[in-house]
Amino acid sequence: MQTVTVSASAPYAVHIGSGLLDNAGELVSAVTKSRRCALVTDSTVGPLYAGRVLASLEQAGFSAVTYAFPAGERSKNLTTYGKILEFFAQNRLTRADFVIALGGGVTGDMAGFAAATYQRGVDYIQAPTTLLAASDSSVGGKTAVDLESGKNLVGAFHQPRLVLCDTDTFRTLPEGALADGMAETVKHALIADRDFLRFLMAEDISARMEEIVRRNVEIKASVVQEDELERGKRKLLNFGHTLGHAIEKCSGYTVTHGRAVSIGMALAARAAERMGVSPAGTLEAVEAACRRFGLPIQCPYAAGELYDAATGDKKRGLGGIDVVVLEELGRAKTLRLDMEGLGRFVEAAAP
Ligand code: NAD
Ligand code: GLY
Repeated sequence: MQTVTVSASAPYAVHIGSGLLDNAGELVSAVTKSRRCALVTDSTVGPLYAGRVLASLEQAGFSAVTYAFPAGERSKNLTTYGKILEFFAQNRLTRADFVIALGGGVTGDMAGFAAATYQRGVDYIQAPTTLLAASDSSVGGKTAVDLESGKNLVGAFHQPRLVLCDTDTFRTLPEGALADGMAETVKHALIADRDFLRFLMAEDISARMEEIVRRNVEIKASVVQEDELERGKRKLLNFGHTLGHAIEKCSGYTVTHGRAVSIGMALAARAAERMGVSPAGTLEAVEAACRRFGLPIQCPYAAGELYDAATGDKKRGLGGIDVVVLEELGRAKTLRLDMEGLGRFVEAAAP
């Protein structure tokens, strides 16, 4: 087992390794005095892994109730969120108790938001079961649900007390789900670590999952520690996301988050290179990295559609919208654009 500590306002450990779900009881005991929890999971992950977590918790003296919602991004909404809160209340969860989010980013974001708001906030533990959740969403405390109007429009910052990443769970991921996780991994490498990018381009990643998750978590932790509430540096983690979120929305959430981010990174790289902000060759390198992991780079939507969807993005502030561009491979910065500027950026992103 490897451990990375996230030194956020309340520090916590991210444990990464094989078979960790079977030790959940012991590892959770180290961070709580409570012996009651609610396990939130989805309809796919629950039957695969909840039994093991519950058995380990029970052995360590915990009692747990389980709520499973229908798997998929379309469940990440206020209706499911409300049902989770009702479930907590009906089972008399108290502020002394805690929540475990067992699943991918959808589960982590939604159970985390429920934990952030139930009785004004209860502790929660992330147990990510996708590469995407392990490498990105389970760390850093962003929780949210989607609205009809767009992605993650309601949420809260609420750091977990512990992250338990059992890398064995990746073995049952559906085809394509590893690639979704690699999109956020490539993003971390592109914005923060050129050596990591070289490593990803050269190595057989399937044999190096633990290392890959660890490096992702280290990169994310270093950013979150500096800017937990996304006032500045944390915005860099949104590389590919302004247009990525627009693509997800345009597709009615049939394009997965990782794939949308991959296309979003390629679009941002093309626009920035054409605008002279990124050096020549940036787009080629971004596209090569995405292609290597079977990720798409072509956008199925016209510039006008993307612009309309992107202008509803919550990253839009008073002075406009921040888009992230690469100064070079391994280093990123934000570019503040007014609405006209965003229009030009989206036009410049088109092939
Ligand atoms: P997901 O949670 O929907 O998981 C993808 C699919 O894989 C689901 O059908 C799920 O049931 C299934 N699954 C999960 N683990 C499995 C396993 N081990 N074996 C078999 N099937 C498994 O999606 P995701 O890609 O994990 O996460 C995407 C979400 O994460 C998006 O909503 C995105 O907005 C969010 N996100 C949040 C942050 C953050 O910082 N909070 C960062 C990145 C992404
Ligand atoms: N996934 C972007 C962030 O956590 O800030």
